[in-house]
Amino acid sequence: MLESLGRINNSLVRSVATAATVCSVVTLSIAIVIGVTNAKDKSAYQFGVYSSLFGAAAGAVFGLIYTSKASENKFTLDIKASDSNVWQDWRNFVVVRKVKESEEITSFYLQPEDKGEITNFQPGQFLTIKLDIPGQNKPVIRTYSLSDYPETGEYYRLSIKRELAPNGLDVMPGIASNFMHDRIHEGSVIPAKPPNGKFVLDLHKSTPAVLISNGVGITPMISMVKACTRLNPQRPVWFIHGARDSQFHAFQDEVMEFAQQNPNLNVHIRYSRPRPEDTGKYHSVGYVDAALIQELCSQDAEYFLCGSPPFIQSITEGLKASGVPNHRVFFESFGKPMKSESEKQTQTATQGEEFAEIVLAKSGKTLSWQPSDGTILEFAEANDIDPPYSCRVGVCGTCMCKIREGEVAYQEEPSATIDEGSVLICISQPGSSRLVLDI
Ligand SMILES: Cc1cc2nc3c(=O)[nH]c(=O)nc-3n(C[C@H](O)[C@H](O)[C@H](O)COP(=O)(O)OP(=O)(O)OC[C@H]3O[C@@H](n4cnc5c(N)ncnc54)[C@H](O)[C@@H]3O)c2cc1C
Ligand code: FES
Repeated sequence: MLESLGRINNSLVRSVATAATVCSVVTLSIAIVIGVTNAKDKSAYQFGVYSSLFGAAAGAVFGLIYTSKASENKFTLDIKASDSNVWQDWRNFVVVRKVKESEEITSFYLQPEDKGEITNFQPGQFLTIKLDIPGQNKPVIRTYSLSDYPETGEYYRLSIKRELAPNGLDVMPGIASNFMHDRIHEGSVIPAKPPNGKFVLDLHKSTPAVLISNGVGITPMISMVKACTRLNPQRPVWFIHGARDSQFHAFQDEVMEFAQQNPNLNVHIRYSRPRPEDTGKYHSVGYVDAALIQELCSQDAEYFLCGSPPFIQSITEGLKASGVPNHRVFFESFGKPMKSESEKQTQTATQGEEFAEIVLAKSGKTLSWQPSDGTILEFAEANDIDPPYSCRVGVCGTCMCKIREGEVAYQEEPSATIDEGSVLICISQPGSSRLVLDI
């Protein structure tokens, strides 16, 4: 009954309904007691009337207080992944729309080929997709944040940056991102795993949230800001984004629309190289840094960061230096952070073995590993074995494999959920002198 009362949206109506319910329950109980005891005393009847009035008042107050709880339950229902819609392994999705968002970012709207329902997700989560790319000897698996939080739950949106070859390096441009931009069109079919990831905005919280991104790191922030505007608009949110100029600034109109709908959303856009015609589209010039964040936002906030590894590193260091505790800073990096040689040496000396024998059981190879060989994934690749991978930073779980014998040492904290007796080989190295893996 309490649950039914809690579902009434209008707080006044819920208060009156709760008051009437409690009053009826108290009156009925007292009437039964008077009937059973056959009380003749007038004061017994007076006690009954006062108790009923008191019950009605208490019910009315409870009904009002119960407003927030009811809303919380609504969020829970809304954001909880419905188990019946979660699929196992890969499911085919059709690209139903392809939209250019900026000079280098294009969005792909995906709907299940089987026309079934899709799994709900939490703002900030990602999809892992698999692409059959001509010239590649195995499917290319990559991870992309969900960049929308659609009201109807009818589609997933991925927004992908075309990765060029780094300046000065004579290497291939990004394999998957260029294939998506050039060869994937409306009607193309892409297999995807269910939404996943722990970099999520908890929609039940009221703590101020600061969403900080640069470049394509904007994608999970769009999902977070949209979910918050829809489901928790009381929560103060700062949306701080850095781009080169308006040509490279995706989702400008979408964010301004959220800001108009949500008075608790504060937007700050910083361009590093604005063009004269960009006037009015940005708030300040330079790179997003910790000083800007300190200047704009409330001290007791939670901070969500997404972007390039150097960007995340500089902001986290800046926040730490200004006294923000680690447990209030959450980040997702789209690439592997660069480590200095001294960092690599210290890590190896403290965490792992100096030398080890690695047996890759399924491939039938027994190999000698040493610290300069890097992670188990890098070592396997250098020895012409190609285990599946996607993020290479311990986030997506694609590289997970079973350990048959021995131990591993992680080079960094994994974020993916790891099955018992398994390892993420993209961020680990041998932790015992002999290691046998199911690769
Ligand atoms: C959780 C998560 C979420 C993500 N979300 C998004 C998102 O929303 N949008 C998005 O665009 N991306 C996102 N990414 C990044 C995405 O997964 C891919 O890493 C990205 O698209 C690049 O993949 P690619 O196959 O195009 O490039 P790759 O082929 O993997 O190459 C990457 C870069 O390395 C360069 N390169 C190639 N060979 C060499 C070499 N020998 N030496 C040095 N450099 C070389 C390439 O030119 C390219 O610039 C996300 C990543 C993670 C982990
Ligand atoms: S490749 Fe993503 S967790 Fe290892």
